[in-house]
Amino acid sequence: MIRDILVYPDQRLRTVAKPVEKVDDSIRILADDMLETMYDAPGIGLAATQINVHKRVLVIDLSEEQNDPLVFINPEYEVLDGEPEEMQEGCLSIPGYYEKITRVAHVRVKALDRNGEPFEKDLTGLMAVCLQHEVDHLDGKLFVDYLSSLKRGRIRKKLEKQLRQES
Ligand code: NI
Repeated sequence: MIRDILVYPDQRLRTVAKPVEKVDDSIRILADDMLETMYDAPGIGLAATQINVHKRVLVIDLSEEQNDPLVFINPEYEVLDGEPEEMQEGCLSIPGYYEKITRVAHVRVKALDRNGEPFEKDLTGLMAVCLQHEVDHLDGKLFVDYLSSLKRGRIRKKLEKQLRQES
């Protein structure tokens, strides 16, 4: 089922998500809905926070064919080296805006998969950046938080204006 995506500056995007205690069918349905919603958008990553579910679940698929879905439950990462990686980022909750953000280039993530099995992965490049962006969502953080308050304010005002025109 395709779910509605919250749009900045919706305050619900600031909620800190709670860890998943048990990976059961409800979590698998959540992950499937998130993938469907992400593919429909289309996007390459989505955190449960963005569909107003405050559980630590995120999905990523960097393939062009949308056939390489990755599900991370209770993800945690450590920085493997602090080398900065600057990339243009977008976000389904901040539609139409792309900004250069600096993150770290190499992380190791630990998470549970959709069967509740723990796994570890070393991530680099776009995958590392995407993972950091999505984990931020679970902590109530957005990429605009890395911008100057002036820039962030401009984006907020434009999105608020758009929302008023739509309703
Ligand atoms: Ni995002």
